[in-house]
Amino acid sequence: MTESTKRPDTVRLQRIAKGFWESAAFMSAVELGVFTAIANGSNTIESAAAALKIEPVNAERLLTVLTAMELITRNDEQFSNTADVDRFLVEGKPTYAGPWMLFSKPRWETWGNLTEHLKVPAAEQRVLGMYDDTFTVERAREYHEATYSIGMGAARRFHRQVDLSGRTKIMDLGGGSGCYCIIGAQQHPGLRAEVLDLPPVVVVTREYLKDNGVENEVIATACDFTRDALPQDADVAIMASNLPQYSRPIIADVVQRVYNALLPGGEFHLIGEMLDADGCGPIAPALWGLSEAVSHSTGLAHSVSDCADYFTAAGFKQIQIDEFIPDTLTRISGTKPD
Ligand SMILES: C[S@@+](CC[C@H](N)C(=O)[O-])C[C@H]1O[C@@H](n2cnc3c(N)ncnc32)[C@H](O)[C@@H]1O
Repeated sequence: MTESTKRPDTVRLQRIAKGFWESAAFMSAVELGVFTAIANGSNTIESAAAALKIEPVNAERLLTVLTAMELITRNDEQFSNTADVDRFLVEGKPTYAGPWMLFSKPRWETWGNLTEHLKVPAAEQRVLGMYDDTFTVERAREYHEATYSIGMGAARRFHRQVDLSGRTKIMDLGGGSGCYCIIGAQQHPGLRAEVLDLPPVVVVTREYLKDNGVENEVIATACDFTRDALPQDADVAIMASNLPQYSRPIIADVVQRVYNALLPGGEFHLIGEMLDADGCGPIAPALWGLSEAVSHSTGLAHSVSDCADYFTAAGFKQIQIDEFIPDTLTRISGTKPD
């Protein structure tokens, strides 16, 4: 029987239904430090159990699932990390991204009530969604520990792709930890930058700027980019990883206001979780859009064609679409004519 004539079964559906079991196993492995223990030589059930301070039977249960998920491999009694796990989930390495893997965990219970969230009427949606009054400095600090652990790598990738030599000032909308500006300032002497973010966040941004020794080159300013004025002296604008948090009219308006604020000849890079032009995937941007139902915002997943339309309508020229992180982030850029 060929694939197309095969009688449908429930295998795929059952795996999806239990997907949250896999997430739980993975997050517990990160929290317990399983991958770090394996890298440090505690790579059998008994030795891992001792290092993690859990019962051997629980170590066996967990290592068996992690092996089936192809996060670790098994050779007789010994387990090893796969290449991506070894690079990103062993504590102590500069590439450690454990906090980012746990980023969505605070919302675990809320996702369990997704059906109720999907029934929330439009009248109860808020523009700022999760960034309402409950988003305190403490919450922002925890949140950006996670974004920083993945964002510095993304920022390095951005500056490998985009040469900002000769530019004078970046404005970074929703810049969070400031990672894109930190790397920019470190790589381009004389380049200044302004991170624009919500009031609780800029307190945390300033901590990262200081830790990275760029507090003289990069400033952080409290700004709600959906309604506050943007700086008028930047020739580069960046907006990364907050696209699905807002509706189509809001993003179209932000793109227009960035265009208006940029100096002539300036460039705008919008790095976002974008769907393909047909709107059928990939899954990661689609899920980021769905997560806005949980936040009670007006946001949703935008497609690359939606974004190209915002750029064209605003007046940008030389509009270009580039893959940034496969199946996750796309970079759309445009230039304001002289
Ligand atoms: C997922 S983080 C991304 C941070 C950073 N751009 C990066 O790529 O690492 C999203 C950021 O957008 C900020 N943000 C969301 N809505 C905003 C708004 N209306 N005005 C200013 N900042 C906003 C959040 O506070 C948060 O710092």
